[in-house]
Amino acid sequence: MTTIALSLHILGAVIWVGGMYTIYVCLRPALGALGRPPDRMTLMRAVFQKFFPWVWLSIVLLFASGYLMLFTVMGGFAFAGAHVHIMQGLAWIMVLLFAWLYWGPWADFREAVDGHNWEQAGQDMVRIRRIIAINLPLGLIVVVIGASGRWWT
Ligand code: HEM
Repeated sequence: MTTIALSLHILGAVIWVGGMYTIYVCLRPALGALGRPPDRMTLMRAVFQKFFPWVWLSIVLLFASGYLMLFTVMGGFAFAGAHVHIMQGLAWIMVLLFAWLYWGPWADFREAVDGHNWEQAGQDMVRIRRIIAINLPLGLIVVVIGASGRWWT
């Protein structure tokens, strides 16, 4: 049971954090290869459209498996190491930021791209980028804390 929970947990972490890394660190700077801004925005709309359902699935997997481990193997909040509390706290911040991104700038960006309102789409993309610029480092920190925590708590 724990093996399955931990496996789903790590898959969720890899998909979400690794996906943000690829998009932010590799894809975004490479967008310059597409000369016209409308082409870049259309591509990013398609990329986010594919990526965000995976983020929701990752969130469900991470939280379900995380709390399952916490309340079964670890015996509840009182017995869990500090790394689990930090992981959980940062994870909640990440989810709230993602929910804000999803129902805020992402919804606006989609509408702007579909309506060929490129100036608005550009502004929405900056807002999306800013949120990912916070969530990506948070995700990397959570992964390090989650994986190394048992050695220092
Ligand atoms: C952004 C969300 C999260 C990420 C990226 C993340 C990442 C990780 C990673 C990389 C590990 C180490 C797996 C291993 O190699 O053994 C881990 C372990 C763990 N996580 Fe998370 N986690 C997240 C959210 C949560 C949440 C919400 C909980 C709920 C309490 C949680 C509970 C745990 C527990 C109990 C362990 C096992 C710790 C241990 O064996 O000492 N995680 N997590």
